[in-house]
Formats: sequence, C-alpha cells, structure tokens
Amino acid sequence: MMRISRRHFIGGTTAALFTPALIGRAFAATGGAPLPIPDVLDLRGGGGAPTLDAIAARSRILEGRDTVTVGYGQGFLGPVIRVNRHETARLNLGNKIKEPVSVHWHGMHIEGAQDGGPHSPIAPNEVFESALDIDQPAATLWYHSHIHQRTATHVWFGLAGMLIVDDPTAPANGLPHDYGKDDLPLVVQDRIFDRGGQMLYAPQGPTRMMGYRGSEILVNGAIRPQASVPPSMVRLRVLNGSNARIFHFGFEDGRTFHQVASDGGLLPTPVPMKSLTLAPAERAEIVVDFSDGANARLLSAPDNNTMMGGMMGMMRGASPEPVADGGLFEVMTFAVDQTRSGSVITLPKMLAGAPVPSFGEPVRKRQFSLDMMPSGMGMGGGMRGMMGGGHAMAINGASMDMAVINQELRLGEVEIWQVSANEMAHPFHVHGTSFQVLSLNGQAVDQTRMGMKDVVLVDGTAELLVQVDRKADADHPFMFHCHILEHEDLGMMGQFTVS
Ligand code: C2O
Ligand code: CU
Ligand code: CU
Repeated sequence: MMRISRRHFIGGTTAALFTPALIGRAFAATGGAPLPIPDVLDLRGGGGAPTLDAIAARSRILEGRDTVTVGYGQGFLGPVIRVNRHETARLNLGNKIKEPVSVHWHGMHIEGAQDGGPHSPIAPNEVFESALDIDQPAATLWYHSHIHQRTATHVWFGLAGMLIVDDPTAPANGLPHDYGKDDLPLVVQDRIFDRGGQMLYAPQGPTRMMGYRGSEILVNGAIRPQASVPPSMVRLRVLNGSNARIFHFGFEDGRTFHQVASDGGLLPTPVPMKSLTLAPAERAEIVVDFSDGANARLLSAPDNNTMMGGMMGMMRGASPEPVADGGLFEVMTFAVDQTRSGSVITLPKMLAGAPVPSFGEPVRKRQFSLDMMPSGMGMGGGMRGMMGGGHAMAINGASMDMAVINQELRLGEVEIWQVSANEMAHPFHVHGTSFQVLSLNGQAVDQTRMGMKDVVLVDGTAELLVQVDRKADADHPFMFHCHILEHEDLGMMGQFTVS
C-alpha cells in the first residue's frame, strides 16, 4: 500500500499531460478477467459502527502493472454497503489521504446534516461518526466523495461505491437476491490509462466543457470482465459511475431483458426492453434470463452527448473512445456455468405491488436553467473562456457558491421543478429525496416505466414533481446539480434548505 503522491492528484490534472501525442499513446488494455464481486459492508441489524477509511493504494487493474488509485477501505472504489429500512446505520468515516474527502449518500432520504455533501468534509486523519436514519423503499443507491471542485477527481480515481437499501418489512418479491451469485452489483465506469499504467485525468478544452470520458470500460474496477452466472434469472444492479459518459446498453444477441427497478426502487411491474440508457449516477436493476445456457456479451452504443454538431469532431479528436465493433463497444461478458443453479426461473409479474406514491397537488413551481455559458459572456466569449479553462457553469445564471442558498423549500410541500438544458443533455440530480418525472421534452412520461428518480437526463425541458420531507438547514443544505462531474465542479450546482 502506498500513499498517493501530490503528483498524481495535482500534476495529473495539469494541461501539460493532456497532449495529443500522449492521448495517441493511450494504453489499450486486454479485458476478460473475472468480474470482481465487492465485499459487503453489512450495517444491517445494528451492532457496532465499522470504520471506513478513504485510502490511497496501488491497485492491479492492468496486467503486470500497478495503478495509483484511491478507495474507501480498499484500493479502488469501496465495498457494497447494505442497510435496512427502519434502522439507523452507523459507521466511522475516516480519511487517510492528503486532502479533504466526503461520503455523500446519493439517493438516500436523510437530513442535510447526514447527507455527506460539500459542507461535510472529512479532513486528513479526521474521523466522522456517521449515523443514517434509513427510511425509504428498497433500492440500489451509491456513495461518493462530494468536495466542491474536487468531486470529479475524487470519483475518477476511485472514491465511490454501491449501497443497497433492503426493506425487511416488504413482502418477498420473487426476484433473484443471492448476492454475488444471481444478484450482481455492476459499477460501470470509463477511464483512460497512460502508457505507464496510470489513470489519466486531465480535462481541458472540449473534454472539460463536455465532460471527461475514457477509452477503457471498467466494471467493479476490472476492464471488460467476465461474470460467471447460473442458467437462470440473474439480477444486475447497474450503476453508471462514470464522470460524464452516457451508456446505451444492450446485448450482442439482441435478447430482451427486464428492468425491475430504477433509482428510487422497484417498478410496479417488470418492463421488457432491448436497450437501456443510463446517464451518469443513474441506476437500473435489470433481470436477464440465462436459462438457455447461451453466453452473452453486454455492449454499449457510443455517447453522442456533445454540444453542437460542429463540436463533435473536436470531441472525438480530444478524447479517445472505446474500441468499437460495428459501432458498439464491449462492456463485459457473461459465461453460463451449467454446474450451478439459480433460484429464480420465472420472473414475477408484480414487483412493488403499487405504482409511484401520490404526492398531492403542487403548491408552487420553480425554474432551473442549466447554463453552460452564463449570461454576459455570450456564445463566443463563453466558449473562449471555457476553453481557456477559467469560466464557470451555472444554474439560473448563478455559479455554485458555498455561501449562497439558492432555494428555500418547505418541508413536505409538493412543487413542480421545470428544468431546462440548452446546449447539451444534462443528468440533473436532487439530494435528499426521490422525485417523479412528469414530462420530458413536452412528452408525458409513463410512470410505470420510469419509477421514482433522483437523476434524470434532461435534454430540452423536464418537469419534475418534487417533495422533500427531510430537513436541511443553511449549515448543511442539500444540493441540486448536473451529475456530469466536470459540470458540477465548474459550478452547475446550487443549494437548497428544507424547513
Ligand atoms: Cu451523486 Cu450531489 O451527488
Ligand atoms: Cu446525491
Ligand atoms: Cu451538465
């Protein structure tokens, strides 16, 4: 184990590293290692408060070479944390790296003081005693560092993990739930490695403007791994843990699979589909039928979320894309092991048994305009400023300011949030709650397919029904922001209180 050096955090973000020559020599890794199954940090049933330290390490991601990474309690990423509804989950969050980090509980319905956002930094060698009052439906969430202007760097180098909320009081729903066997966590991320085997993080110009994407696909920290699965129904809890890449998943053989949960938990019924789009920070639980014994390859279509037609070329030139095969690139593979047996052969017809909750009549409406080029700068000026690396992004013209509360909400009141994105699509995220999506681009949304969300990809205009029933004061406000982490760090974020 080694301490991360300043060179990797600070030097790694300098423009000097990001030259076309270096990108041209980006390292293409071979994949196919077994899918790592993260350890479980089980906080269910009370008991003590285990320690989870942010640490720096050398991790073996590539063959025959070490990569400097950070993680929570492990070299890269963190354990899968499991918590129970109606319990208080406790853990001691430590920090063994050389700069402040935090642990934000993304998707959790908890008070602002528990949320782990930018106002809850953990200084080096400090310990924060965290207590989380869990009360929300079973769901696949995640956690990650959330220090303002450092979130993108922290997540890129590994400060993120999955969290599963279980609800012991909910009736058994007939879904696969044998962790690591027929219920697999999949943290999907893109990264760039240089020839020295180090992860390269150097957003600049167009890759800073449109978000930083990588040419290698990692699942649970392994490059395009292979999962061994039983010949049965297999549940995949998929998290897009990328900084900026939008995935459009599908299987090479075109098989149908079923989505059973979105960000906030189970859908009313399984939704059949052949392709699934996941923007950064979104989760989906899908069930794939491997009972025919056929191996499968999970692919993704390229991410075309860029600013303008004319910018595409720049984007492509600046950022290496995963090696594609007929326009699609590989994410991972599944090998069916006939000697194993899974427990679920048929998919249940009903899941949560209830549609999305009724929120009641909205009492007000708020507007959120996601601005890549805030007013006053103008198109050309904004672009030049951004390329020069200096300028801010904003929401409603205001760039994130830790000292400014942008919105004040009343506890439990229902509101409509109208969110608009102009230059490109942005995954909009709200802390402390799950919301309903009423419409996207003027089209009504089918709630039975969408479910409860905490991130929604806004391309044009979205109308959200928002109700927050957890408090947040001005010392520990909640955030709303774009989850393209480069945009977030550039200031496309705001703060709100709930009282
Ligand atoms: Cu994933 Cu503000 O968070
Ligand atoms: Cu969050
Ligand atoms: Cu954005």
